[in-house]
Amino acid sequence: MSKQFIVTPETTLAEAWERVLARVNEAVSESGHPFRYVTLATVDKTNSPQQRTVVLRDFSDDRIFTIYTDSRSDKVSQILVNDSASLLFYNEEIKLQFRVSGSASVVNAGEEYKRNWDNRGSKSPHSYTSVIPPGTEIKSPKEAYHWHLEGTPNFCLIKIVAERMEFLQLDGVKHIRSEKIVDDKEDTERWISP
Ligand SMILES: Cc1cc2nc3c(=O)[nH]c(=O)nc-3n(C[C@H](O)[C@H](O)[C@H](O)COP(=O)(O)O)c2cc1C
Repeated sequence: MSKQFIVTPETTLAEAWERVLARVNEAVSESGHPFRYVTLATVDKTNSPQQRTVVLRDFSDDRIFTIYTDSRSDKVSQILVNDSASLLFYNEEIKLQFRVSGSASVVNAGEEYKRNWDNRGSKSPHSYTSVIPPGTEIKSPKEAYHWHLEGTPNFCLIKIVAERMEFLQLDGVKHIRSEKIVDDKEDTERWISP
């Protein structure tokens, strides 16, 4: 067992989940963190999965994941029709995969929205302010380079509330896997076969 792995056969379930979720928390504030870029999957209107890379912006109550996006993007319209979403993380440094499934919602007003706009990590006024909506056909890349540089017209948050989380700690052939069923009253954690 390499020292860098955070879960070993000796780790208790509670300790394992504490360590895994601590790594997710770190990613919110550390720009180069391996868990910072996460794959978000949604379901489109033909029931096909759609995935894309996003930045993890917040993780709260050990179950709520927040990302920032453009309210005109396909992921937003998909979530408004079908709120099923999943997140996939992989940290190569510690050989840890982390998967989340749950329900997503879009936040585009209110105190939390304003706080996130004010504190957004990317201070570029070009984020979420393109004149042409994402996904529109254009004749050349340059046609998209126009922005509304004042205001927040298309900024929104996507919040994913976990219903199930799972980690897989790789270690040669002796992998370690566990799931957590998230519940308002009490979460249930168990080891599962890798
Ligand atoms: C490293 C990386 C980080 C990204 N972060 C975000 C992000 O935080 N929010 C976002 O909306 N798109 C982000 N994108 C762009 C998305 O992957 C995607 O291309 C875009 O959001 C359109 O997706 P959609 O049409 O499925 O909605 C990122 C792309 C890369 C490569």
